Amino acid sequence: MSRTPTVGGNWKMNLDRDASVALARDVCSRLGDAPGVEVAVFVPFPYLLGVGRVIADSGSAVRLGAQDLSDQDNGAFTGEVSASMLIDCAVKTVLAGHSERRHVVGETDQLVGAKTRKALDSGLDVILCVGETIEQRRAGQTDAVNERQVRAGLEGVSPGDMARVTIAYEPVWAIGTGMTATPADAQDAHAKIRALLGSMYSSVLGEETRIQYGGSMKPGNAVELMAQPDIDGGLIGGASLKGEDFQAIVEAAR
Ligand code: 13P
Repeated sequence: MSRTPTVGGNWKMNLDRDASVALARDVCSRLGDAPGVEVAVFVPFPYLLGVGRVIADSGSAVRLGAQDLSDQDNGAFTGEVSASMLIDCAVKTVLAGHSERRHVVGETDQLVGAKTRKALDSGLDVILCVGETIEQRRAGQTDAVNERQVRAGLEGVSPGDMARVTIAYEPVWAIGTGMTATPADAQDAHAKIRALLGSMYSSVLGEETRIQYGGSMKPGNAVELMAQPDIDGGLIGGASLKGEDFQAIVEAAR
């Protein structure tokens, strides 16, 4: 089974309008049609249109992504952004359950599941993010946390929709800290998530679903991480803000 590797740049709440357009231009010109790897950038809401225009004008295969969405269609939900609004801005893919939304904003497993279903039902692709905190890892709960978050995140998701789902395993303690899971630890978590998908759906679907690693991935550690059999790419925070580093990571995935 060969899975096309997938690399995402999660810009988080960084950059300004000019810098986001400049980074998008740089990424598109470096990556072009990025053969052999699927590449997406997850852009702050206010800059989606500007970055989307850069991508469209460049003819690049880089996909436009958003960092979050509402689980609701429309109405009195101040500050929220719906799936249809994202689609209106040419967004193709969206993150659900990033650890900063779970642990900083307080999103529950159930809300993340509702967002995942809303995105899929609306026609978006989804990256469902899961991963344990350092306390959970020390308590030996890594696999149980991943299982709980995967099951709740995919509650009600049909096998047919799973082709549009990528899982991102992002151990919370490795995000933005410079600490990376060892390739062996990351591989172990990925293999267990894949086996879980196999038991929830089918072994074929488990083999076909892509699982990205996220957490301080950089040019210097990307090759070794991505060489693991169950690691199918990366979700990159800090290093995605530099075109050169992001390109090196995409090349490592290829
Ligand atoms: P860093 O690469 O900055 O650790 O962030 C990872 C991440 O959270 C990507 O979603």
